[in-house]
Amino acid sequence: MATDTFLRQLSDDGLHLPEIKLHSLEKLQRHNYYARVFATAMRKKWPQLAYVGLYSGAGRARVVPEGEIVETTAMSVLRLPDPFTHYIFVDSDPDCVSALKQRVAVVPRRNVQVIHGDVAATASTVRQALPSYGPGRGLLSFCFIDPFSTDFKFDVIRQLGDLRMDFLILLMLGWDARVNFTRYYEDTQSTRIADLIDCPNWRAEWKSQGSTDVVGFLLRKFNEAMVRVGYLPAPESALHRVTASGKNVFQYVLAFFSKHQLGQDFWKETLAGNSDQMGLGL
Ligand SMILES: C[S@@+](CC[C@H](N)C(=O)[O-])C[C@H]1O[C@@H](n2cnc3c(N)ncnc32)[C@H](O)[C@@H]1O
Repeated sequence: MATDTFLRQLSDDGLHLPEIKLHSLEKLQRHNYYARVFATAMRKKWPQLAYVGLYSGAGRARVVPEGEIVETTAMSVLRLPDPFTHYIFVDSDPDCVSALKQRVAVVPRRNVQVIHGDVAATASTVRQALPSYGPGRGLLSFCFIDPFSTDFKFDVIRQLGDLRMDFLILLMLGWDARVNFTRYYEDTQSTRIADLIDCPNWRAEWKSQGSTDVVGFLLRKFNEAMVRVGYLPAPESALHRVTASGKNVFQYVLAFFSKHQLGQDFWKETLAGNSDQMGLGL
């Protein structure tokens, strides 16, 4: 599959357009590639395939400063040749929610729900929105978690992770965690890192290990948290580090977790694409 299939340039439809940076394009393409491989391979095997997009955005965005308008993950998953049977999106920004609802309305897909709210506060709503499952009505889900920062609570995964659900998570470990780590460490009232890695005593562990590798520490702790809720440990190769286009400045990690090796195999295939082809050639 050619990588350009996974990033659509669009014109202005007059609805809300959040701004994104060039380095977000790789996220869009990797996500779109994975979603397509997953849905195509699993559609015939599972009667119900659900997609959950947490921090879903508006479905389109403007790349700044370049100005191009691109389709973002929420709309791309609706256009898959082998679609999911159910879609649930969550965003707290009323402008994003309103625009996404209007964009979704013109796509001929049933079972699409756009939830307006805080991801941490709506996990139970998402759960209720998923289709019921049982013998003959098996449910397999894929959840993409795409926050702006490390302000994500692992508890959301705990509330969903007992299901058969694979997770692709953007961990904002470059900008944010690495840049602000000293502040989060010294502000003992801050629970941001503890909430992210599900480890209230992380400061003592960080101090005792005597390392300066913030990103390595957080990835190890996040991986351990996923294993505790039943996921396979993600190999280092599944924790994909993305740098700013044209510069060697680390931005974020795309981390993939599944309970089954097949999920990791799909993600490996997704990452096998040449990173140089990512983006719009801008
Ligand atoms: C990085 S953007 C998402 C981009 C989108 N997934 C895409 O494909 O381009 C983060 C989104 O999270 C939303 N957001 C921020 N804090 C949130 C929260 N606590 N709960 C739900 N959504 C939130 C923002 O409105 C924004 O649309």
